[in-house]
Amino acid sequence: MEDSLSQFSGELPMEDFQMFVKEVYRHFGLDLSGYKAHRVKRRTEILVKKYGLQSFRDYMNLLLKDQKAKDEFLDKLTINVTEFFRNPEKWQELKNKYLPILLKESSRNFKAWSAGGATGEEPYSLAILLEELHAPSRASILATDLDLRALERAKRGIYESRALVNMPKLMIDKHFEIENGFFRIKDNVKRRVQFKQHNMLQDPFPNNIDLIVCRNVVIYFKPESKDRLYRNFAKALKIGGMLFVGSTERIFDASDMGLKAVSPFFYQRVR
Ligand SMILES: C[S@@+](CC[C@H](N)C(=O)[O-])C[C@H]1O[C@@H](n2cnc3c(N)ncnc32)[C@H](O)[C@@H]1O
Repeated sequence: MEDSLSQFSGELPMEDFQMFVKEVYRHFGLDLSGYKAHRVKRRTEILVKKYGLQSFRDYMNLLLKDQKAKDEFLDKLTINVTEFFRNPEKWQELKNKYLPILLKESSRNFKAWSAGGATGEEPYSLAILLEELHAPSRASILATDLDLRALERAKRGIYESRALVNMPKLMIDKHFEIENGFFRIKDNVKRRVQFKQHNMLQDPFPNNIDLIVCRNVVIYFKPESKDRLYRNFAKALKIGGMLFVGSTERIFDASDMGLKAVSPFFYQRVR
């Protein structure tokens, strides 16, 4: 065992990985082909090594019989790093410039989608803004993520103080209850958000959306998956609806998709 382990340097053959990707799809229905292959391969190899296994095939056999290992695989594949009001100046811009218009235009039926909302900080940030702007109670947010563990945490809505570093104390006091040193999001904010598992590389999209927030997710996607995703987002938006992307993300052929860049991280569907 020791001998064979030491032979495994951490670099397994790409062909075996490609076979593994097909098996993942066949057994679990999860299509990994839209992600950057080297990244997924590297992360999977770490797990193969952790279990002292020699190949992707051995690892697949483990995933098939051990639910815990399978959950762990899906968890390690995704990175859930997030916080409330990530890039606060962008959220300020959303609050001051775009949300009031979107709320007005949607005539009380405002519907937002936080796609890849992870453990809830992003959709709850938006829900807090809706509260602050006195949006009608029907104004709501669909929050989706691929990762079920992240969604479970999101539904609990309990956070450590470090998730709240971008929030002024007054805002924290207004929207959270403190319980044993943790911060629990208040029910009026929570009620605005519905959480649902959704794979944006595979599943059908909702439509008639006023605002899509998709930030810090596409970095893991291949260029062609990214392109398809943005085209689908454009179709999911109402005319006049907006897409809010992450601070290193650009849509180069936006106008081709019917989107107009209104400022560096905000796009509007114009046709
Ligand atoms: C780094 S977090 C970003 C969280 C939040 N949007 C933010 O900017 O703070 C990326 C999230 O994307 C999710 N994700 C990755 N691939 C996905 C897919 N195909 N469909 C839906 N969510 C996905 C991951 O599970 C993870 O929770």
